[in-house]
Amino acid sequence: MKVLVIGGGGREHSLVWKIAQSTEVSKIFCAPGNPGISELAECIDISSDQTSLLCEFAVKEDIGLTVVGPEAPLVDGIVDLFSKHNLKVFGPDQKAAILEDSKVFSKLLLRKHGIPTADFKCFDDHNQARRYVLSREAPIVVKADGLSKGKGVFVCKTNDEAIQAIDSIMNDRVFGNAGDQVVIEECLTGEEVSLLAFTDGRTIVPMESSQDHKTVYDGDKGPNTGGMGAYSPVPIMTSELYSVVEKEILVPTVHAMNKEGRPYKGIIYIGLMITSVGPMVLEFNVRFGDPEAQVILTRMKSDIVPIMLATISGGLDNVDLEWHPQASVCVVMASGGYPGQYDNGREIKGLDSLKNQEGISVFHAGTKSENGKVVTNGGRVLNIVACGGDIKEAQKKVYEAVSKISFEGAHYRRDIADKAIK
Ligand code: AMP
Ligand code: GLY
Repeated sequence: MKVLVIGGGGREHSLVWKIAQSTEVSKIFCAPGNPGISELAECIDISSDQTSLLCEFAVKEDIGLTVVGPEAPLVDGIVDLFSKHNLKVFGPDQKAAILEDSKVFSKLLLRKHGIPTADFKCFDDHNQARRYVLSREAPIVVKADGLSKGKGVFVCKTNDEAIQAIDSIMNDRVFGNAGDQVVIEECLTGEEVSLLAFTDGRTIVPMESSQDHKTVYDGDKGPNTGGMGAYSPVPIMTSELYSVVEKEILVPTVHAMNKEGRPYKGIIYIGLMITSVGPMVLEFNVRFGDPEAQVILTRMKSDIVPIMLATISGGLDNVDLEWHPQASVCVVMASGGYPGQYDNGREIKGLDSLKNQEGISVFHAGTKSENGKVVTNGGRVLNIVACGGDIKEAQKKVYEAVSKISFEGAHYRRDIADKAIK
């Protein structure tokens, strides 16, 4: 079978790497891909938002399975378009992808169905939002309703900060239409963990837990990024806690989407805060996380392709999902200046020294080939992943590997997975 993967970041490189191990796959295409991906798949020059061109390509090439990496095409209805052409495509349709597209929708869904989440209010009026914030005590959280590349959430320590957040979302419109509405919510405390699951709308098959590191600097300081690293498994996610999350959150959410007439198929990603009164939902995503995919997929033992096909056809009840017992840690190497301004075109050195090293994977994100060299071409440049007997061993291995790679201005967090070791 021919497979098409849509996207060109570290998440998509790890997806291509995993799909390439499938016994069912004869050829992989990736649109647009990157230099790392091009070692495993044929990269085609169509960007992930050109859904009509992607569909034409899939029809022409008789693609047996399309896997969508990022959220934007899902929200734009790529699954609906491909399905109309009788193409098998992995991910939720547009009606179901609203779970990530609108925080107002997802918060109201949680409230209506009694699923634990932070107390909140929604506003489409800037002045009312400001007045509400002034009537509350900080810390308080302000969220733009729509997609904002992971940058639309402001955890505000003071009321002033919250007012500034509302102004930039609703007045300055830094996220465009995504800022037509805001959610203002109670600030939760506790440890965060992400739980991803495959679901065909009836059966739910959970994956191993993982944890992202969103801020740019060590100690969770500095502005948010797309993600500076991740680890899996997360030690606080015991089987007891998992049972609570399954019963109170995962199953009720999938049922709630059915009841709303928005049956959900694909990966459901639940961001959780484990508070003193139990797990609560922070957010939903409708796809693999980046860099969560990189640590989850390097631990997945089963062939992912039959699982994706069963998710599409509604046969997940017949699927077994097995895991390698080892732990996995991913460190993101970023361009100097990221998540602010940065330059591209810096030569990356040392990549060959990590080729074919047992337990080490290098997944490309912002890279480009230029005159036979690999150069930087984005904020998050490389994802270095190591597997080890436990998190501590994986962490030691990953930082040894990181030390072999260099490019001018490179920076990375030095405390990825420390939380899991303490
Ligand atoms: P989200 O994109 O909704 O996951 O938000 C990004 C990050 O903001 C989360 O990973 C949390 O660290 C933080 N966050 C979001 N909502 C809350 C909340 N209600 N209380 C505390 N922190 C939050
Ligand atoms: N790492 C967070 C995300 O993919 O949304």
